Amino acid sequence: MTEVIRSAAALRDRVAAWKRSGMLVGVVPTMGALHDGHLSLARAARAQSDRVIVTIFVNPMQFNNPEDLKKYPRDEAHDLALLEAGRVDVLFAPGPEEVYPEGFATKVTVAGVSEPMEGAFRPGHFDGVATVVTKLFGMTQAGRAFFGEKDWQQVQVVERLVRDLNIPIRIIACPTIREADGLAMSSRNVRLTAEERAVAPALHRAMKGAAGAIRDGQDAAAALAAARGAVLAAGFASVEYLDLRDAATLEPVATVARPARILAAAQLGEVRLIDNIGV
Ligand code: PAJ
Repeated sequence: MTEVIRSAAALRDRVAAWKRSGMLVGVVPTMGALHDGHLSLARAARAQSDRVIVTIFVNPMQFNNPEDLKKYPRDEAHDLALLEAGRVDVLFAPGPEEVYPEGFATKVTVAGVSEPMEGAFRPGHFDGVATVVTKLFGMTQAGRAFFGEKDWQQVQVVERLVRDLNIPIRIIACPTIREADGLAMSSRNVRLTAEERAVAPALHRAMKGAAGAIRDGQDAAAALAAARGAVLAAGFASVEYLDLRDAATLEPVATVARPARILAAAQLGEVRLIDNIGV
């Protein structure tokens, strides 16, 4: 049985009891509308912790676009059924007033890794992520937290913040889960029309092509330009960025000396898709 908990106080009691008996607690923070990507994190948590908490909170503070927040898919009953099947111990699903009570005044800002790409195109987004993640770590008191490489920059931001604020939690990054045609699973994919859904895999295809070309020694700038062109030609409305960056610092790189990653965001109809791939 997955127990649904909505208050931080009740969660604290539950976790305190687990910890008294020496259990390792794992947490998977999510915004719900769960898919196999989220469930892969829950499986990793199940395998690497004694007790598993999945959190569902559509965090208003990280949405820079009010329309996106309004249209964000929500289906808690369905999510709960998936978590039951995944043997998750607790679903922590607080309301907005539990997370941001009257008088809330603190914001966590991570400089550096949060600034380019998503940080540049979604002002305030990573302040919202860093603030809510810090709160969720405090509320769950977990020893391990599981995040998806799908949001590569988010993982770098969270790792930085945990180090900088001495939060006693280990961050575990898990691989991106994809549809059979390569499209990275995302809660926002349900908002694609059938036509857009057919176009969507072009993003991963182009990125994979560029990563292969760069690995084979081709000029990175030319490979990235070709990939941007292919995404637009496939039917995307725009490419916000499709860059080669150092995998850890997210600084731009022109050649691959250390682990590097291609990261991209592109607009398809009303949906903004992001993806990344190692080089
Ligand atoms: P959300 O988009 O719901 O994602 C929750 C977690 O699932 C994140 O760690 C994300 O990287 C991971 N995830 C999403 N799609 C995935 C995929 N296809 N394969 C593997 N993992 C995937 O990311 C957030 O929520 C929020 O920013 C949050 C961290 C919960 C803070 O509000």
